[in-house]
Amino acid sequence: MSALTELYQQIHDCFKCEIAKRRCQVVPGEGAENAEIMFIGEAPGWHEDQQGRPFVGQAGQYLDRLLVSINLKRAQVYIANVIKCRPPDNRDPLPSEISNCRHWLDSQIEIIKPRMIVTLGRYSMARYFPGKSISKIHGTAQKQEGVIYYAMYHPAAALHQTSLKLAIEADMLKIPKLLAEANRVQEAKPTTESAQQLNMFEV
Ligand code: URA
Repeated sequence: MSALTELYQQIHDCFKCEIAKRRCQVVPGEGAENAEIMFIGEAPGWHEDQQGRPFVGQAGQYLDRLLVSINLKRAQVYIANVIKCRPPDNRDPLPSEISNCRHWLDSQIEIIKPRMIVTLGRYSMARYFPGKSISKIHGTAQKQEGVIYYAMYHPAAALHQTSLKLAIEADMLKIPKLLAEANRVQEAKPTTESAQQLNMFEV
């Protein structure tokens, strides 16, 4: 059994939050165990809860199209959420739910070891860019210990607002260069110039 499959089993058995008792299915995440890039959303919605898979509703179909725009397929990336159970009536995740679920996402990141983590929306952004506003930092990257953290709007928000749609589509197109930079820094430090061109901060 792979480390990821073993972890899914443990997540499946987790009933720490009240919402776990009301879920139809747990939604741990899915994708390649060796993915270079990991997308982190907020929480499963109705469709995800039905299917046990992340981003399969309207926002997910839009995410698929965004991936195609940079020649990536779902199977090449890893997709997860900050919390693994659907909050009732699509309410926002509670701080206690985020904190109870935190170690599952930590373990996923530890197993996959992505070169780049893309946050989709406010809740996953808060993990890596605490106190920041998404309208200010979307499309900017931060490099920490060789991993690039990159903030984007949530596809569900972008779907219904033209200005956000333009922004998310432009931000997506920057990913290949950032990923290439992440791979390059395995061997050498990025030049200040290339990091600046990519709007990348080192912390
Ligand atoms: N929105 C999310 O944040 N995650 C999903 O899996 C689906 C919609």
